[in-house]
Amino acid sequence: MNLLYEPFIDGILSDGYGIMDDFLSPSEVTALRTCLHNRREAGQFRLAGVGNGQVTVTTAIRGDEILWLDEATATADEAAFLERIGQFVQYLNQTCYLGLRDFEFHYALYPTGTFYKRHLDRFRSDSRRKLSVVCYLNDNWQENDGGQLVLYLPEADGLEGQMTVTPVGGRLICFDSGQLEHEVFPATRERLSVTGWLKTA
Ligand code: OGA
Ligand code: MN
Repeated sequence: MNLLYEPFIDGILSDGYGIMDDFLSPSEVTALRTCLHNRREAGQFRLAGVGNGQVTVTTAIRGDEILWLDEATATADEAAFLERIGQFVQYLNQTCYLGLRDFEFHYALYPTGTFYKRHLDRFRSDSRRKLSVVCYLNDNWQENDGGQLVLYLPEADGLEGQMTVTPVGGRLICFDSGQLEHEVFPATRERLSVTGWLKTA
């Protein structure tokens, strides 16, 4: 499908994560960011929760506001994004035999100063989350804006490595939901993304 995907696939298979810049073009990022802002201004976002069902809101653990994407109510730009993810899933299944069947995505907005403490994405009671995917929607993000994603990487000999990802608009990061703990650092400005999970049957 796309040669850009090759190093990315290798990363997922050998290290449990892959990063791809410009997964979304600047105009796609701008379009989705506009949709996000419109929906937030319409009062559609809610503080995210923790645990299965996300029933408990705990800003000491995570402070982002989210809105699940729904094909039935998607704008043209959101539908195009979901379509794009569908193609990506197809490609992953063809190259990695991951057996992905389904996906779910939400917008996430971290107000200034909020964070998400170190955690694992896969719920004990929902082992279907195979890969976590985050696509950033930020405009002109700078290193000193903060808001990095840090992946904690288990290494042979029991040590732990770290991979730090700056949330640059259009960048996509994908990692093993069941293996890699990670956290989101606070930022000095609003931090925007569309985040989701690719699931097995
Ligand atoms: C999450 C998460 C990472 C990010 O939503 O579970 O860890 O970089 N997001 O936004
Ligand atoms: Mn997470």
